Amino acid sequence: MFHKIGEPHGLPHDPFKSCVVPRPIGWISTLSADGIVNLAPYSFFNALAAEPPMVMFSTNGKQPFGPKDSLTNVEATGEFVCSMATWNLRDAMNRTSAPEVPEINEFDVAGLEMEPSVLVKPPRVKASPIHLECLYHTTVELPCDIEGGRNAVCIGRVIGVHIRDEVLTDGKVDIARIRPLARLGYQDYTVAETVFPMAMPK
Ligand SMILES: Cc1cc2nc3c(=O)[nH]c(=O)nc-3n(C[C@H](O)[C@H](O)[C@H](O)COP(=O)(O)O)c2cc1C
Repeated sequence: MFHKIGEPHGLPHDPFKSCVVPRPIGWISTLSADGIVNLAPYSFFNALAAEPPMVMFSTNGKQPFGPKDSLTNVEATGEFVCSMATWNLRDAMNRTSAPEVPEINEFDVAGLEMEPSVLVKPPRVKASPIHLECLYHTTVELPCDIEGGRNAVCIGRVIGVHIRDEVLTDGKVDIARIRPLARLGYQDYTVAETVFPMAMPK
């Protein structure tokens, strides 16, 4: 099949999000300008560079009651933390995606413990094995077809990396032990647990 964007695809659901998979999930914690903690999952999330390490998450559309909090908070405070979402934390991660008003701390909603960060003020998800402490770099605005919405990519510079000692095997991050969660299309997810090496050609 082929379909031109903007014209009917003839499928029961828009296939686009299934065509770029699997997407890692950045579990973004921030503080509002008033110091209220916020936590939400973003699967339009990825690493962008390594030296220095840079990451991005992309906010899409809007909440029923206004803009999404994560980007608002990052732009107001200049800091965020990405905690890794894992198989074990899948239900809690999902609960933090509910459209809560800014006054609600999603750590409490999901029964998650906060752990203080070292270099930035937003807390991390204690139960997650990997956290990236980030400083806001810039926002890239995208076109948005949703009335009153905002599509925008938030780019951050990673200034601190936490890796729980138990997930290091022979000094390497042990993905099979961590089982990172990743987003597919529709309401589907996958989990990374199979690892195989393949060296780049010289
Ligand atoms: C696995 C998962 C991935 C998500 N990815 C995104 C995303 O990339 N961009 C987005 O705008 N919303 C995404 N959402 C929805 C947000 O998490 C949801 O709108 C949330 O309430 C936003 O919270 P905030 O207003 O505190 O930022 C995702 C939800 C789930 C469950």
